Amino acid sequence: MSDKQYGILVIGAGWVSTQHISAYVNNPNAQVRAICDINLENARQRAAEAGLGDVAFYDDVDDALRHDGIDAVSICTPQHIHCQNVLAAARAGKHMLIEKPAANSLEELRQMRDAVHAARVKTVVGFVLRWNPLFQSIKKKIAEGTLGELFYAETDYQSYNSDWWGGWEQGRRKEMSCSAMAVAGCHAVDSLRWFAAPGETQAADPVEVFAYAGGRRKGKTCQFNPVANDWSEQSPLEYDGLEVILVKFSNGVLGKVSVNFEAVQPYTFPLSIFGDRGTIKNNQLFAPQSPDQDQWREIPGICPDSSDVTHHPFQGEVDHFIECVQQDIESHCNLVDAIKTHEIFFAAQQCYQTGQPVSLPLL
Ligand SMILES: NC(=O)c1ccc[n+]([C@@H]2O[C@H](COP(=O)([O-])OP(=O)(O)OC[C@H]3O[C@@H](n4cnc5c(N)ncnc54)[C@H](O)[C@@H]3O)[C@@H](O)[C@H]2O)c1
Repeated sequence: MSDKQYGILVIGAGWVSTQHISAYVNNPNAQVRAICDINLENARQRAAEAGLGDVAFYDDVDDALRHDGIDAVSICTPQHIHCQNVLAAARAGKHMLIEKPAANSLEELRQMRDAVHAARVKTVVGFVLRWNPLFQSIKKKIAEGTLGELFYAETDYQSYNSDWWGGWEQGRRKEMSCSAMAVAGCHAVDSLRWFAAPGETQAADPVEVFAYAGGRRKGKTCQFNPVANDWSEQSPLEYDGLEVILVKFSNGVLGKVSVNFEAVQPYTFPLSIFGDRGTIKNNQLFAPQSPDQDQWREIPGICPDSSDVTHHPFQGEVDHFIECVQQDIESHCNLVDAIKTHEIFFAAQQCYQTGQPVSLPLL
């Protein structure tokens, strides 16, 4: 294993980039050498906050990719820009950490997959909860067989996303952001795949999807802000705020996942995993080995009950990305794997049109 220091370019210097940058600063094998944003002031601000002296600033991605000594790129732009960033980074032969959702359509995913394959570069897609310590403990218990054979899992993303998020003006618009599942529910979709597979670093393969979309919020201007705990007039949500998806996996596990941008409550991310020998609900385990074990037991770790990026385990994700580049190994969360997560919520979109179940894979 080399102890080379990998040069990093961060593209998109907004909210999530703060966490990418500080994780690179903490990784001895990485150095942020350039930051690119159409608003140069954002790039300068991120560098100043992180105490980065020796860093270049760009407002053009192709110029930034030509900066000397860049090995890898963090793509932290809004989701409708990801595809063009990935294609440019692949042309330049750079490894990539791509924020979620990776793309806005199956066609974009196809182009990105082909470009990454041709460039032979490493990718990690930002399903950051895979590095949550509680998720890791749960996966260890599943892999050890504590729950027996898995047969059902449920995950839900429940957050009244609104103008408390700086990216909301684009995030609320259908043309730029597609759906509630694409914008944020994708974390729950990916967690469902993660918990439906028995291996410690394995996500299950979906084979069929059926879904409904609904809710009451689309098009309305009076909306909730859970940070201010108040209602205000805001530009409306252009897609359905509630989606519920049923998934069949190739290993026989069934799953249900929802995204709820209409839940008037603080953020929650409940999860349930059922095996034929035990059950996990959030951080509680019930798996009796003897008749006297009749209580739920707590699994140590913090539940993923916050939408704040400072609460998410970006350090683990970034360290994993650098390790994949350094050791020339494919991530369990590379673009090819992450496409299977995206196919679930793009299949749901097809289902809303036809009312019929959709067979996967789609690509
Ligand atoms: N993994 C997570 O938990 C998590 C959390 C928050 C956001 N995200 C994702 O990260 C991405 C960015 O979200 P954010 O909240 O940081 O948004 P943001 O609006 O705070 O930041 C986006 C930045 O990109 C810049 N930008 C826009 N177009 C650009 C372009 N063409 N070239 C270069 N820069 C450009 C903007 O000026 C802005 O500084 C989204 O895909 C979002 O879904 C992930």
